Amino acid sequence: MELRLDGKVALVTGGSKGIGRAIAHAYAAAGAKVMISSRKEDALRAAAADMPGTVEWFAANAGDPDDAAACVDATVRRLGGIDILVNNAATNPYMGPMIDIDVARADKTVQVNQRGVLVWTQLAWKAGMSDRGGAVINMASTGGLAVTPGIAYYSVTKAAVIHITRQLGFELAPKVRVNAIAPGLVKTDMARALWETSEEAIARRTPLRRLGVPEDIANMALFLASDAASWITGQTFVVDGGAQLAPGLG
Ligand SMILES: NC(=O)c1ccc[n+]([C@@H]2O[C@H](COP(=O)([O-])OP(=O)(O)OC[C@H]3O[C@@H](n4cnc5c(N)ncnc54)[C@H](OP(=O)(O)O)[C@@H]3O)[C@@H](O)[C@H]2O)c1
Repeated sequence: MELRLDGKVALVTGGSKGIGRAIAHAYAAAGAKVMISSRKEDALRAAAADMPGTVEWFAANAGDPDDAAACVDATVRRLGGIDILVNNAATNPYMGPMIDIDVARADKTVQVNQRGVLVWTQLAWKAGMSDRGGAVINMASTGGLAVTPGIAYYSVTKAAVIHITRQLGFELAPKVRVNAIAPGLVKTDMARALWETSEEAIARRTPLRRLGVPEDIANMALFLASDAASWITGQTFVVDGGAQLAPGLG
């Protein structure tokens, strides 16, 4: 089955690198017009230039509602509307026991990872998705499904993303489908501290014997955005090489 997105417009936050960049690339290759967004202009410009088809960029902090509104406006103006929104941008400004996190970093984690998912979806809905229909894909994490030493408050926001996905899946049906992906450990800059020095050991413990690469997640994001997923909403799909099957070993 070939999954195509011809005639669709997709907006991908955190689209300049890692998982978001792979998703944007997969969507563009499948025929969608794509807007990528993140904070750094140079990285966005370089990423957009490296993708097939029509790919535009707009600098925006996913945790800032004014930036989000400006990016959604620009997408509608330049590309004609929004059919697919990928809420992929996230941050993890604190590592350590959750009991010690300071309020400033706790707030930042919520603003980008959790409130951002709600705000961008509200804006896309009001910008026309409510009429033309569409698909929203939220980036959760297997951290949102289990206790995670070191990245606990980040994982709290990912658990919230999983529930926001259920709630909005219910509220926005039947016009808009809302689903989430919960990746396991994927080799990107964000997760580098978790895999760089122990990749082989982690791979040995993972049933499918390797860490994830961004394209593993992009394949699921392409399926969820496509008509092949037209009877699926409110769900979270784990893509983790089987790591959740025996989490005690992970
Ligand atoms: N890698 C993993 O193992 C893993 C596992 C589970 C879930 N995830 C999730 O997958 C998603 C993508 O992560 P990744 O691993 O691909 O990370 P990454 O390679 O570090 O890429 C993160 C992207 O998000 C952007 N970004 C970061 N903070 C932002 C903000 N405040 N506003 C707008 N854009 C922002 C970055 O660009 P700028 O810095 O220029 O803004 C970049 O484009 C995240 O939701 C993450 O939680 C990752």
